[in-house]
Amino acid sequence: MKTYLVTGGAGFIGSNFIHYMFKKHENIKIINYDKLTYAGNLENLKSVENNSNYLFIQGDICDKDKLQQVFEKHDIDYVVNFAAESHVDRSIREPETFVKTNVLGTVTLLNAAKNDWILGDGFKSGKKYLQVSTDEVYGSLGKDGYFTEKTPLDSHSPYSSSKASADLMVKAYYDTYKMPLNITRCSNNYGAYQFPEKLIPLIINNCLNKRELPIYGDGLNIRDWLYVEDHCKAIDMVMENGKVGQVYNIGGHNERTNIHIVKTIISYIHDNVDSSVDESLIRYVEDRKGHDRRYGIDPEKIKTELGWYPETRFEDGIIKTIKWYLDNKDWMENVTSGDYQNYYKKMYL
Ligand code: NAD
Ligand code: TYD
Repeated sequence: MKTYLVTGGAGFIGSNFIHYMFKKHENIKIINYDKLTYAGNLENLKSVENNSNYLFIQGDICDKDKLQQVFEKHDIDYVVNFAAESHVDRSIREPETFVKTNVLGTVTLLNAAKNDWILGDGFKSGKKYLQVSTDEVYGSLGKDGYFTEKTPLDSHSPYSSSKASADLMVKAYYDTYKMPLNITRCSNNYGAYQFPEKLIPLIINNCLNKRELPIYGDGLNIRDWLYVEDHCKAIDMVMENGKVGQVYNIGGHNERTNIHIVKTIISYIHDNVDSSVDESLIRYVEDRKGHDRRYGIDPEKIKTELGWYPETRFEDGIIKTIKWYLDNKDWMENVTSGDYQNYYKKMYL
């Protein structure tokens, strides 16, 4: 039985990953190690909390002693590092937190795993560390071309630069110690449990509350959207069969402009929930500083080497996602109470 240490498992992708893994594999243990920042929410994991193969530990990936205790107490085979500060707008306002968690935290976690797994000149067998990274480390594309694993790192925001810095430290642990590891770089995810500071859940929530829909700049920036469960599947496949030391890009050629996303959400809610929700709610606002224009992943390597392919088309995934938020209004009410109101006021009002 493999034991996974999933860091940041109470966040959006981490919690989806834990659900995905328990559905997919019968014989695994998962330890969810999460600091529970504003973005971490144990409600996301209610249905697994009594599973005897699941354990939650509240902890910071910057906490060397606590991590050492976790590795000493449990025989960890795999580490999947989701723990991060993940929102570009927040990184523009407070870059230091991003460097602390995303860079220092990653190195602290890598080191804890290395110290536990090292054996003689090499590593104990069956161990692997996976760093969940982002396509944003490659910077911004013009009209043509895609990010491949060979595209040079050219990050722009404090968020993406902290993720790129972490990636370089992960690479250093392979180049220097030959630690068994992979890096995955995925495009924008969407789906259940995403905190409503990110575009899709924010727009859904604002439509349902008839609030204005803020669109940065001209609304023509492009993101390459992937349904979160397709990302989880890719991580599982890279963990099992990815060549050690390699980077894998993950994306499904679902490029859409921001305005297209917003109009798609308005149209579904208008037709199915509330006909008074329409495009008059759209408000073009000041552009994000340093706003990357276009992201687009070339997923050829993970497709040909590992046989991964995305199962959910954007047009289906977005409907599933809107329906999830409609069916889980309590979840949205919980995460938007308290601090969220202050964040929203500072950002948008
Ligand atoms: P999220 O913000 O929803 O969740 C982050 C989680 O990490 C939270 O549960 C939080 O409590 C936890 N955390 C934060 N700081 C921590 C610390 N110091 N120690 C322990 N836990 C801590 O983020 P997400 O959208 O789920 O993203 C997860 C990972 O995937 C991140 O590394 C992100 O860079 C990467 N990624 C995200 C996307 C996306 O579209 N969301 C795309 C590609 C890659
Ligand atoms: P976001 O979900 O924050 O993801 P990322 O910046 O990591 O790609 O934003 C997605 C796109 O939507 C990005 O181009 C910024 C834009 N955006 C808006 O236009 N309005 C908003 O209120 C938000 C949160 C994002």
